[in-house]
Amino acid sequence: MDEIPRIEQTLEAAIERATAKDCPPLLAGAVRHATFPGGARIRPRLCLAVAKACGDDIPDLTDAAASAVELLHCASLIHDDLPCFDDAPIRRGKPSVHVAYGEPCAVLAGDAMIVMAFELIGRQIETALAPKRVADIIRIVAGSVGMPHGIVAGQAWELEPTIGLADYQRAKTGSLFAAATEAGAAAAGMDSRQWWALGECLGEAYQVADDIRDVASTPEEIGKPIGRDAALGRPSAVAQHGLDGAKKRLKKLVDEAMGSIPDCPGKDELRLEIAHQSKRFLPKELLLSAA
Ligand code: IPE
Ligand code: IPE
Ligand code: MG
Ligand code: MG
Repeated sequence: MDEIPRIEQTLEAAIERATAKDCPPLLAGAVRHATFPGGARIRPRLCLAVAKACGDDIPDLTDAAASAVELLHCASLIHDDLPCFDDAPIRRGKPSVHVAYGEPCAVLAGDAMIVMAFELIGRQIETALAPKRVADIIRIVAGSVGMPHGIVAGQAWELEPTIGLADYQRAKTGSLFAAATEAGAAAAGMDSRQWWALGECLGEAYQVADDIRDVASTPEEIGKPIGRDAALGRPSAVAQHGLDGAKKRLKKLVDEAMGSIPDCPGKDELRLEIAHQSKRFLPKELLLSAA
């Protein structure tokens, strides 16, 4: 099952609308640069997979929710790469947005994409098909990027003298994955709360895998610098548990995620899809050596 065209089309339409005539060209270029070509698109895939398992009876609403989550992710990467955060010159194998367009434009592009994400969901109200679902999705997604537990809070932990690894990873990464699963369920009219644990566990697992790649991969493979976590003194699963310990933690979190999938009409297919996606969290050679 590959739902990528649905996501790309919705993102393209949203960016087309936002960068139409009268938009400052540099801002338009920076937003496009940050969004296309995409990376793994793992969060919107997850959102669509959950919605599908729950019936996906309003696909336009699902597409808006999934694409909003991806816009927020891309915005978070722009800001994360800035010199005042991780100071990373390369992202997805090309210059980071601030390198290509300058810092002021990068800050504004991230801001614009955060707003665009909510506009994209809000526009679904026009169909008046399911206003309660639209409101639920806005609440879910806003919580996952804000404070006290969202991406902003996750990045803010880096400013504190002491950080707990799990709190940090749950906020900076787990929260948006949880928004992806919860919003997917909400778009299909299901009780979103039951879907939080799946997203949270998968997100934490994904960040553990990212920490492993930061020490065990190459810039060519991952399209971004390696060794950044140690250089910046960031708490990471590898720093805390060692490489083998981090692999064990990754496996445990994926198992926990699989075990948390709520009952739903498409549960079997969803299990297969999540098993398939989570195998791709780490390259095969690193997985094979997993404890
Ligand atoms: C990178 O996320 C930031 C993390 C939370 C690990 P992704 O690995 O999903 O980035 P892209 O979208 O595929 O480039
Ligand atoms: C960033 O985590 C997570 C965000 C909220 C942007 P990392 O700093 O580890 O992500 P990469 O390694 O830069 O992609
Ligand atoms: Mg970073
Ligand atoms: Mg990283």
